[in-house]
Amino acid sequence: MVNRTLNPKKGETFGAKSNCEITSMGHQELVGIINMDALENLGNLLGKKYDDIWSPLYKQSEINNHIHDQFTVNAQEYAKKYQNIEYWVSLLRAAFNHAKIKEFGKKMILDLGSGAGNTILPLLEIFNNSIIIATDLSVELLYILSNHLKKFDVKNNSYKLIQCDIHELNKIFKNNSFDIVVGGAILHHLYDPKKVLKQCYYTLNEEGIATFFEPFENGNLLLSLLYQLIISQNKLEKEKVPGSVINIFKQLVNDFEIRSNINKSNDIFKLLDDKWIFKRNYFEDIANDIGFKSCEIEPLTTDFKKYFEAQSKTYLRLSIGFEYAKLPLWSREIIKLADITFSEEMKRDLLTEGCIILKK
Ligand SMILES: C[S@@+](CC[C@H](N)C(=O)[O-])C[C@H]1O[C@@H](n2cnc3c(N)ncnc32)[C@H](O)[C@@H]1O
Repeated sequence: MVNRTLNPKKGETFGAKSNCEITSMGHQELVGIINMDALENLGNLLGKKYDDIWSPLYKQSEINNHIHDQFTVNAQEYAKKYQNIEYWVSLLRAAFNHAKIKEFGKKMILDLGSGAGNTILPLLEIFNNSIIIATDLSVELLYILSNHLKKFDVKNNSYKLIQCDIHELNKIFKNNSFDIVVGGAILHHLYDPKKVLKQCYYTLNEEGIATFFEPFENGNLLLSLLYQLIISQNKLEKEKVPGSVINIFKQLVNDFEIRSNINKSNDIFKLLDDKWIFKRNYFEDIANDIGFKSCEIEPLTTDFKKYFEAQSKTYLRLSIGFEYAKLPLWSREIIKLADITFSEEMKRDLLTEGCIILKK
């Protein structure tokens, strides 16, 4: 995998493998889990800024096939918009409590699609003295992550940053290497989540646990129905839903429909960062096929009273910064009707976002 064209300097080719070895970083433990020969220190190739970010080296076209501007040229903006460490501390704690992890001491952890590090700092906090391997295809996001870790004074022998396409974990990581694998909002960006889950299984130690946080079709298709109702009712009402919100509702309806198609060979997926919205049984069947002992799926919230309202608020805030309370009452009543109609148990089933816990 070495000696390839490397991003972000398009078209530039690198020859000899650098002399710098991972062992020189004092991470004795890393030697047993990483195929060191497969990696280069990007600092030696792209400049000091990228020092200590390791990579098997990818062609720009390989990167472009998986990720787009929001994760590359607009990485700073993306990281700022989505950084929410406190939220991730609570999500991860809930997942590990659910998984009945008893011991929160030193673990070997693989974090997939780490981005700017929403899951990395919480994991370092939850699992004392652990070693975390952070991975992402975007060197821009890994660079932001490395600055965060320095800013928070995290010991540099407790983490390693690796640029990698996580469809190819097996080329970089050895089998039976990790106690925990974590993926925060990553599987729905992949062409082949099953391939990645299979490789997670092999990189996990016996009794290892993998946990992922993903969007689900069940609740989102109900939201899609509600948004379609609002779009048609809007034509009849005097007090209108703003055009920008109607556009977002239309986009969401369209987006859910495209992403719920299990066949990802359509060219449109080459342009979309968000490729999936999952069905519960997608994970249950895959976990069973691969050989995981168990697969549990839990909603990301414990507050079900205003479940569909809360999710709609999040969509409007993140997409156009719109305040939900400013929607006409009649449109909020449509969403409220779903919140009143479905019991907590039904809402658990109709989850919009969920945590998947797989035990080896
Ligand atoms: C929604 S972000 C999540 C980032 C982080 N886990 C968080 O929760 O903030 C998805 C991340 O997956 C990365 N990604 C997408 N496809 C990838 C792939 N094939 N291999 C590795 N990383 C990938 C993107 O660059 C991006 O950082």
